[in-house]
Amino acid sequence: MSATTPQPHLPEDDQLFRLLRQLDTAPDASQRATAQALGISLGRLNAQLRAVAEAGLVRITDRPGPDKRQRYAYALTSRGAAEKARLTDRFLARKLAEYDALHAELTGSGSGFLSSKPRIQVMQNHHAPIQELYVSPDSAQKLKREAADLPSWDLTPRQICDLELLMNGGFNPLKGFLGKDDYEGVVENMRLADGTLWPMPITLDISDDFAATVEEGQDIALRDQEGVILAILSISDKWIPNKAREAEKVYGADDIAHPAVNYLHNTAGSVYLGGAITGIQPPIHYDFRARRDTPNELRAYFRKLGWRKVVAFQTRNPLHRAHQELTFRAAKEAQANLLIHPVVGLTKPGDVDHFTRVRCYEAVLDQYPAATTTMSLLNLAMRMAGPREAVWHGIIRKNHGCTHMIVGRDHAGPGKNSAGEDFYGPYDAQDLFRQHQEEIGIEMVDFKHMVYVQERAQYEPADEIEDRDNVTILNISGTELRRRLREGLEIPEWFSFPDVVKELRRTSPPRSKQGFTVFFTGLSGSGKSTIANAIMVKLMEMGGRPVTLLDGDVVRKHLSSELGFSKEHRDINIRRIGYVASEITKNGGIAICAPIAPYTATRRAVREMIEAYGAFVEVHVATSLEECERRDRKGLYQLAREGKIKEFTGISDPYEAPEAAELVVDTEGMDVDYCAQQVLLKLESMGLVAG
Ligand code: PPS
Repeated sequence: MSATTPQPHLPEDDQLFRLLRQLDTAPDASQRATAQALGISLGRLNAQLRAVAEAGLVRITDRPGPDKRQRYAYALTSRGAAEKARLTDRFLARKLAEYDALHAELTGSGSGFLSSKPRIQVMQNHHAPIQELYVSPDSAQKLKREAADLPSWDLTPRQICDLELLMNGGFNPLKGFLGKDDYEGVVENMRLADGTLWPMPITLDISDDFAATVEEGQDIALRDQEGVILAILSISDKWIPNKAREAEKVYGADDIAHPAVNYLHNTAGSVYLGGAITGIQPPIHYDFRARRDTPNELRAYFRKLGWRKVVAFQTRNPLHRAHQELTFRAAKEAQANLLIHPVVGLTKPGDVDHFTRVRCYEAVLDQYPAATTTMSLLNLAMRMAGPREAVWHGIIRKNHGCTHMIVGRDHAGPGKNSAGEDFYGPYDAQDLFRQHQEEIGIEMVDFKHMVYVQERAQYEPADEIEDRDNVTILNISGTELRRRLREGLEIPEWFSFPDVVKELRRTSPPRSKQGFTVFFTGLSGSGKSTIANAIMVKLMEMGGRPVTLLDGDVVRKHLSSELGFSKEHRDINIRRIGYVASEITKNGGIAICAPIAPYTATRRAVREMIEAYGAFVEVHVATSLEECERRDRKGLYQLAREGKIKEFTGISDPYEAPEAAELVVDTEGMDVDYCAQQVLLKLESMGLVAG
């Protein structure tokens, strides 16, 4: 631009907000209609359009067509959409403050029936619509077309969950994935750079390869796993995080026994991107659609039914009678209605799948007095971060219009650390929540440990039973319930509802009827395939479940014929085997795998894939290198020694022996039948085959 051309000024905030909103809702309107809607002259509109286009907030394109009055079309850029979102916030805040002042004036500060403060707070915090990051359907269509040319990132399942809650306001006040300053504030002291409480780093982790292709200041398209564009990210920050620090500060320890720390080190990409999100469309769900609600849908529902107080119950487990009793009591205590708000995104590996759980919840819902309780599914990816997670859950529930939340003993606990101790104290979550509840804007109802008193045939809070020495107190722990399901034992009526038990039995048959994987690992020539073949035949002889053998050589022929023996290729090969075995296990079959699988991390990844569906039995065939080389059944060791085969395991390539395999067998001096028998005994002791 020449020095003499005057630089157009952006309109002041209010006018800018109106202009962006108008262009977003009616992008194809003629200039005259737009000027009229805004109540300004055509000349003024033109100047403003020039200013917003030059500031990169609006893109103006020609619209060839007969109607001269509609020569241009307008679309908010993602920066424009972010600006509109910021201005919407300010606009709403100002209007609410005006309302507050007006209300105070009308009622007087000493107004008897309802003081203005709590009323405004309820309106502002729980009932008023919450800001979403979606653009209008017209703009979304345009942006989608334009985004097709942008570099794109295929979101992981966890990122899809995060994005959905960012876009629908579930993660309010976040307006996108955290930038570096916000991330550091959150990691160090649970606060965004501006001081707002936010306990969980919501970051977009990407691979090194993708990171090399994008820059700060650039827009990228975010796609779901089928390639549908869900949003645009305007990258403001790109950095390499200190994951060990993140693990220590957020999860309490850099210990991969913690599922989120394991994810951080072994699944998440090594580079983070941060920046504002422009929402195009929500992720698509085909299951339980009617049961999924956005924060605004729930707020509208509560408004409509006049539910001024709502207690949320967060859960990732099936509900039994004790839960029903405790949630009912919590609602009564708070004189509130009840929202059962189960997580159906990602929970702890090994949890009951959400399909089964939702069927169970539906059965329990009938047990509550009509019109007091509702259930809605939350597509959250949990981190199992205990205390921080509880605070995060509180903010999310507040965004969904709740006024209270039940926080239990060991809320969102990750289990034991690698030294066998709990990661967090049993009441750490309640303590941290209590400390911050005012700031979160939601009240905690602490969870009562409910037990069944046989003589009175009812549930009572354990710490309120005064005659505990004279009555019979019954309780079944989660571990005991799983054992009973696994072994097909009785689950008493006082513990759960018949429909819930029926559902659980249907999807958790006893272990001897479930699918599982036996994963042999060991050097080439150690005897893996021979034992695997023997065990396959023995299992087929027993019958009952289909058996598939995924032998190293066979897999390389049918699944991985293009792969060599570099670390990268071996990992791909093993992950393919793991994927097929996990599908077999999921569908109730037995998979027997017999690759070398020389790397611990890859074997761990396969274990995780399979344990989501059934047992994983790692068998280390620990025949020594000397013995394998002495046998040299395929003549490969000799070729490897002569340097004719490169990267040969044990000779010129590593083999990381398992440290915690379920079974170790050494074939030296043992016949195959004996080794196979040992494996069979192991399977029997684990309850996987009938004795
Ligand atoms: S891996 O590492 O798990 O992917 O290897 P795997 O697929 O099990 O290997 C299958 C067979 O490939 C033969 N072979 C080699 N093994 C190791 N290193 C090198 N460089 C190599 N080149 C060929 C070998 O016979 C393996 O079969 P087994 O049954 O283990 O002897």
